[in-house]
Amino acid sequence: MSLKEFGNIIDFQEKISFIKDFFLEFYNGEIDFFNSPIKYFRTRAEFSFYHDNHKIYYAMFDPKTKKKIIIDNIDFPDKKICDFMPILLEKIETNINLKEKLFGVEFLATKHELSTTLLYHKNIETINQDLANLSSKLNCNLIARSKNKKLVFNHENLKQSLLIGDKEIFYEFNNDCFIQPNTFINEKMISWVKESLAFEVKKDLLELYCGYGNFTLALADDFSKILATEISKNNIHFALKNCELNDVKNIYFVRLSSEELSQALKKERDFFRLRQFNLDDFHFSHVLVDPPRAGLDKSVIDLIKQYDNIIYISCNPISLKENLKVLNQTHKITKMAIFDQFANTPHLECATLLTKS
Ligand SMILES: C[S@@+](CC[C@H](N)C(=O)[O-])C[C@H]1O[C@@H](n2cnc3c(N)ncnc32)[C@H](O)[C@@H]1O
Repeated sequence: MSLKEFGNIIDFQEKISFIKDFFLEFYNGEIDFFNSPIKYFRTRAEFSFYHDNHKIYYAMFDPKTKKKIIIDNIDFPDKKICDFMPILLEKIETNINLKEKLFGVEFLATKHELSTTLLYHKNIETINQDLANLSSKLNCNLIARSKNKKLVFNHENLKQSLLIGDKEIFYEFNNDCFIQPNTFINEKMISWVKESLAFEVKKDLLELYCGYGNFTLALADDFSKILATEISKNNIHFALKNCELNDVKNIYFVRLSSEELSQALKKERDFFRLRQFNLDDFHFSHVLVDPPRAGLDKSVIDLIKQYDNIIYISCNPISLKENLKVLNQTHKITKMAIFDQFANTPHLECATLLTKS
């Protein structure tokens, strides 16, 4: 099956056989598979608005044909989002100030809360009171955005908790953080990583692309110390907060791009942000990477291949395969899993454990 054809696969069984063939040159062992629920699985959902005379509709645009699709009855976003969508639409439709120049909406749900962001092509200060009334009538966390402006009604930060094994881990984040889009699958991924490492000898962990500490907090008990890095200031702000929420003391979060971290570890460059650390105090037995779709660049691959054990989480099998071509020269895959990130779409998440050969 070609890569082009893979873009059309939505059936989970077909995804499994594609992945088995696709990675066969690196790994022919068992692959663990995790199915997503087929309804109410997506924590983030974004829609456009389509205005037709006095009516307003949620809409999406077909990425291939660019045609608009009116969204009426959907069941893939979190149940809280599905239930709230018609209620919100009805309120907006009856208020010209709220309706005018409204072009998009973003919903974000955790297990406990929902946040709604309305996107406007006008100065939102002029409808401040209407937005405040909307938030108070619907008792919802509301954010409004227009060019260079943001207004928050009720609260912006959302609370989340994940059950990993028999332990509950607590998180807080906002809409600007990277958020795993399927909470059920996220719990499965973190648990899979923890269980896969259970019988390994572990010292310190180096984590790159750590976000707000999604994996990091759950792995704190497994390692002596963790150095976790990430490019986004906002993600690191919440990562530090999440350490406090869970009373975790052995994680050191630092805002550094992976490329900067690589320079720091090679002692090519000093960083003020690392002034309180002696990098020589860390003895990394494992490195965990969870990069964006593009995968790892050469400098990061050169960095991680120094370590005995690599945990590679990937949302793109194509860049993962490219990176494995290089990593396979020094490491062998010992375990692999795929996670159905968005049921009925070609998306999936791969997790791979590699050990120095
Ligand atoms: C796929 S997300 C994973 C986040 C986290 N592991 C999680 O599960 O929520 C990738 C993360 O990498 C960060 N990122 C993107 N480019 C980066 C870079 N060059 N160096 C470090 N972090 C980067 C993004 O801000 C994002 O938080």
